[in-house]
Amino acid sequence: MDSSLFDVSDRVAVVTGASSGIGSFISETLASAGAKVVLLARRKELLSREVQRITEQGGSVGLVDADLTDRDRVSAYCERVTDCFGAPQIVVNAAGVNLRESYDKVSWDSWDETINLNLTVPFFFARNFVDSMIEKGWGRVINIASLQSSRAFANGLAYGASKGGVAQLTRAMAECWSPHGIMCNAIAPGFFKTALTAPVFDNPNMMNEMAARTAIGRNGEMADLVGPIIFLASPASDYVTGQILNVDGGFTAK
Ligand SMILES: NC(=O)c1ccc[n+]([C@@H]2O[C@H](COP(=O)([O-])OP(=O)(O)OC[C@H]3O[C@@H](n4cnc5c(N)ncnc54)[C@H](OP(=O)(O)O)[C@@H]3O)[C@@H](O)[C@H]2O)c1
Repeated sequence: MDSSLFDVSDRVAVVTGASSGIGSFISETLASAGAKVVLLARRKELLSREVQRITEQGGSVGLVDADLTDRDRVSAYCERVTDCFGAPQIVVNAAGVNLRESYDKVSWDSWDETINLNLTVPFFFARNFVDSMIEKGWGRVINIASLQSSRAFANGLAYGASKGGVAQLTRAMAECWSPHGIMCNAIAPGFFKTALTAPVFDNPNMMNEMAARTAIGRNGEMADLVGPIIFLASPASDYVTGQILNVDGGFTAK
């Protein structure tokens, strides 16, 4: 086997939502595999801690504190990303929000907040880096979808709509950009313990119910994401695009 198949070393990556949860773990994974990684989120203190932790492990990381819902500043944030190590060839859209509102609590504002961060931002953010990927003839966009890209949950109206959209956005990105060597895929995680899923993991009944709905019989552990992320970020996925990779222990297989 060609040893460069899963190689991401010296690639530049940017990960949104890198201050916690899945984005933080993906940043660490890519950095430990040798990529130069720019961590992006709003909370600078958390990002600084992540940067220190990953640097101590020998990784090369930069930091951009940014609110991606600030539309007028997204281009400027992207310039700051590029200032760290040059233009990224791997873009991971992991910033997200799940407000878990019942149908009667959803407001126009909360609906917009969810759709904007989860669905709109991944397109406008990634688009900033596409020209330089096209120039190099190689790139990766990795969106973070969800079980709710294909399954419905109570209190998941806006979130489910946004994540269903992320799945289709991923396919449209592939159609648009893959002729230029940019593979666009999504990881759809099952239930992983993060701040976003605290309402599930703080409730033992719900946590066990979600585990029981998988084929494997347990919820996700962060380590379950290592293989999928390295696969989708590396040349191993050179002929894979527009796909939603469910990393959910078989939840969606049942
Ligand atoms: N955990 C799961 O089981 C699960 C399952 C399926 C899908 N997902 C998806 O995975 C992604 C990560 O979720 P998570 O579970 O890791 O949740 P999390 O720990 O709450 O992380 C969310 C991240 O988004 C960032 N963020 C929020 N608003 C932002 C903004 N306006 N600008 C920039 N960054 C912003 C947050 O950082 P700041 O607050 O510092 O900005 C944080 O780093 C989300 O897209 C989520 O929908 C998670």
